[in-house]
Amino acid sequence: MSKDFSGKVAFVTGGASGIGEAISLQLGARGAKVVVADLKLDAAEAVVKAIKDAGGQAAAVAVDVSKIEQVEKAVQFTVDTFGGLNVAVNNAGIGGKAAPLGDYSFEDWHKVIDVNLNSVFYSLKYEIAAMLAHGGGAIVNMASILGSVAFPNAPAYVTAKHGVVGMTKSAALDYAKQGIRVTAVGPGFIETPLLSALPEEAHDGLKSMHPIGRLGSSEEVAALTLFLLSDAASNITGSYHLVDGGYTAQ
Ligand code: NAI
Repeated sequence: MSKDFSGKVAFVTGGASGIGEAISLQLGARGAKVVVADLKLDAAEAVVKAIKDAGGQAAAVAVDVSKIEQVEKAVQFTVDTFGGLNVAVNNAGIGGKAAPLGDYSFEDWHKVIDVNLNSVFYSLKYEIAAMLAHGGGAIVNMASILGSVAFPNAPAYVTAKHGVVGMTKSAALDYAKQGIRVTAVGPGFIETPLLSALPEEAHDGLKSMHPIGRLGSSEEVAALTLFLLSDAASNITGSYHLVDGGYTAQ
């Protein structure tokens, strides 16, 4: 595998599971020094071990991305541990309760907006400051197909992901001239622990909604994410990129 991220420092939120885990492993394999940041420290440490066992460099940090001070500390940990910050993936997220908008509780609404939307603002703020101090960088925000279309019974998630796409464009414009690229990725439904709570019939139903006839894999989302983080994407910023098996083409 090409070591095209060699010498780069990467910060991945929600890096302990699913899509974030695949991104962390691929970054590690391609030479990046990876900070796996997650609510679940044990799981983050297991990903760090896998990266190290494969010959890479990594460190784990516990963070709740919905808490400003914890995000600040986690980014500072990255800079202190590896000497800077070059690439970041704001990926941590939750599905939230399933209910129509009128029945959505205020508590559930705030939880999803805090973890899936406000967290991206906190992360961008501290990541951008660290990147400006080291000559720029590249950031990918993990949105979803639900950043451009809706889905029943997911008002907070759909709102948060649309917000992530808007925030991506806003940050990209503000920092384009300072060498920071910011993009968003929009996966279709992906086989990860986030979906494992669903019954088998729901899985089959979701598969049939993707023209490709199956759910995507975390590795497929990671492949797009690493392209956007890489120097090969040097003219790409402010844009939203789907990896959805044709879901939104219908
Ligand atoms: P996952 O549940 O496998 O992994 C999410 C990770 O984020 C877990 O390790 C979890 O501990 C961590 N996390 C959750 N809340 C956190 C918090 N407050 N602070 C720090 N870490 C936290 O989920 P998956 O599927 O890998 O999702 C990753 C991202 O991809 C999410 O933003 C999700 O919305 C998005 N996505 C997922 C899709 C899917 O079908 N699985 C489809 C489209 C987008």
